[in-house]
Amino acid sequence: MARFIDELKRTHLCGDLREAHVDQEVVLFGWVQSRRDHGGCIFVDLRDKSGVVQVMFDPSIGQSFELGDASRSEWVLGVKGKVRDRGEMKNPRIPTGSIEVIALEATVFNKSETPPFAIEDNTETGEDKRLEYRYLDLRRPKLQKALIARSKMMSTTRQHFDQNGFIEVETPYLLKYTPGGARNFLVPSRHQPGSFYALAESPQLFKQLLMVAGYDRYFQIVKCFRDEDMRLDRQPEFTQIDVEMSFVNEDDIFGMIEGLLFKLFKNVLGMDLHEKYPSGHFPRMRWGESMRRFGNDKPDLRFGIEHIDLTELVTEHDGGGIPFFEPIAKKLKSGEYRKDLPEEIVKALVIPASGNFTRADGDKLEQYVKGMGAGGLARAKLGDDGSWTQSPLSKSVTDAMRVAINKACNAQPGDILCFQFGPVDKVHTIMANLRVHIAKKLGLIPEYGSGGRFELLWITDPPLFERDETSKRWAAAHHPFTRPHDACLDLLEKDPGKVLCHRYDVVLNGFEVGGGSIRLHDPSVQARVFKAIGISDEEAEQKFGFLLRALKLGAPPHGGIALGLDRLAMLLTEGEAIRDVIAFPKTQKGTDMMTGAPSPVNAEQLVELKIATLK
Ligand code: AMO
Repeated sequence: MARFIDELKRTHLCGDLREAHVDQEVVLFGWVQSRRDHGGCIFVDLRDKSGVVQVMFDPSIGQSFELGDASRSEWVLGVKGKVRDRGEMKNPRIPTGSIEVIALEATVFNKSETPPFAIEDNTETGEDKRLEYRYLDLRRPKLQKALIARSKMMSTTRQHFDQNGFIEVETPYLLKYTPGGARNFLVPSRHQPGSFYALAESPQLFKQLLMVAGYDRYFQIVKCFRDEDMRLDRQPEFTQIDVEMSFVNEDDIFGMIEGLLFKLFKNVLGMDLHEKYPSGHFPRMRWGESMRRFGNDKPDLRFGIEHIDLTELVTEHDGGGIPFFEPIAKKLKSGEYRKDLPEEIVKALVIPASGNFTRADGDKLEQYVKGMGAGGLARAKLGDDGSWTQSPLSKSVTDAMRVAINKACNAQPGDILCFQFGPVDKVHTIMANLRVHIAKKLGLIPEYGSGGRFELLWITDPPLFERDETSKRWAAAHHPFTRPHDACLDLLEKDPGKVLCHRYDVVLNGFEVGGGSIRLHDPSVQARVFKAIGISDEEAEQKFGFLLRALKLGAPPHGGIALGLDRLAMLLTEGEAIRDVIAFPKTQKGTDMMTGAPSPVNAEQLVELKIATLK
């Protein structure tokens, strides 16, 4: 073994060998992917992070035959050998398939017990098992590629911001806890028993303070911690590409981020986004339009199936004979609901006739929406004459209402209309998910991944406040340091629900991959915003005192954004879940299957921290 590593240095990576290397002597280090015995010769597929190459151990060549013969899956070998053309025996399925390495000398660095699962891309092994042995799972080419792509994303990011005069500043993870916002992980303080730090959910306030400090252009590739319910695109610890800039407007920030995303697509996928976006900019859509057409602020633009808001039409027709719609129409007509901000709405979407949806398919859709809390899924199939068939609504709907809805939806014979009605948020959520679900059923987008198509856009100008249904009060929709539109300042007191703000998200194929805002740097407007959401001076002081003081000590106009690095990496590498692009992720329940975190701690430690746990 001493000869390998000390004298025989690695000359090539396994997956890099090609016909051009024929007749060269090479030294390879890697893992045994598989071993086959063919007529006295042993063939080992040797794997490293670059791929595999076939190594042949021939009893008549060199002294390493016994070693090759004895080797088993996942043994770690060093091999010195000569590259040879495989002639007729080429394997077109692997990049190194036209050559093989004839072993001249070899060593076993380490044997391996039989691994709990085979290291192969199309594995049948359950994810829990793979997460328990994550270091084995990470040997799979798919995950190796994902982590290499992620690393490329980080180096591209650092280069981009460096070239543009940004500096990377680290901000603390152990912070003062402030209620509200994402749920924080708490860390007990030993020096001050009974007091806790919060783990940073983002560097938000610190990056703003760096602007006050005059640093002008900040970025950081930074871990963030949020104790949220997990989804396929969420992890409790995740990474942001965090950015803040002074003396900028939205266009400046969009341009900087577009520049980065163009480079990321180029360096990771070799894709030139200029072909799709020749101006160098992504399209923009206002938040209100996105909600109306897609029911959420992260629309997947790879397909249509847009929502049609029927609220106004239904009101004009007093419900049009449809019992579910009538109470809503009544409240809108009587003025109980505002027409410009109704509390309940009616929406439809159309499943095209070409989808050949059967009645049974419709029933399955109904089950799907019920799983999201919907009462049901009212629907109707259009007959050749525009009549509604296969629908309980067909009996009661007035002709005028039916014709008007068909027209508004541009529905054709054979199409299926699906309706939802009720509280705005609920209808939007259900219809937004239904839209994507139907697109997958229709094969318009794959179940996972891009299908080779990437649709980027900016969502702009959302409302500053949202109504908190429990307290019936206005609350900051994002955070209270977002700058309202100047044109809306008058509405802060008069009509808070109509105040739009300088916040924006960047969306890729239906995922929010980034979000930010232009910040409020004017203390007098800040005070009015706090007032609108019922934050008293004392509360503001207690929660954000240090920031408020800083804003009064020479704060420049500033704004920023954070991109979700993991989400972006998942989308660029066609991962099925965010876990596929994180080296050591947590499960849905926040468990690390490999180390067993989280775990109880011993009693002495709790005593030291003066913490008692409730059973
Ligand atoms: P926001 O909360 O929108 O903004 O987060 C920015 C981006 O981070 C990603 N992200 C997540 N990724 C994985 N797992 C999670 N649990 C998770 N939560 C968020 C998303 C999201 O778009 N400080 C502000 C940014 C700013 O205003 O500058 C912030 O954190 O891709």
